[in-house]
Amino acid sequence: MTKIIFQTTDGARYDIDAPNGTTAMENAVKNDVPGIEAECGGACACATCHVYVDEAWRETVGEPEPMEEDMLDFAYEPQPNSRLSCQIKVRPELDGLVLYVPEEQA
Ligand code: FES
Repeated sequence: MTKIIFQTTDGARYDIDAPNGTTAMENAVKNDVPGIEAECGGACACATCHVYVDEAWRETVGEPEPMEEDMLDFAYEPQPNSRLSCQIKVRPELDGLVLYVPEEQA
């Protein structure tokens, strides 16, 4: 298990023990984190699982693949630290990862 933290704009914090090998999105949905809609179910085709990666974690999380990068253009207010949470695979080195849920999804 790896701890992933989702923070919403109203200040609520969701600490989730996420199984390695799952995606950050799957864990958000399973734990009812508000604001992660994930309409396409993780196919990198909707951008409604958009999150901002805490600056301290950007390097460890890594950069988006080209397909994800294209999809991020459709996200609500994309920033340099934007990622699609369905493309973030949970792994031990992400223990303590903080992800911010945007105010709204595209
Ligand atoms: Fe659709 Fe992530 S769930 S892009």
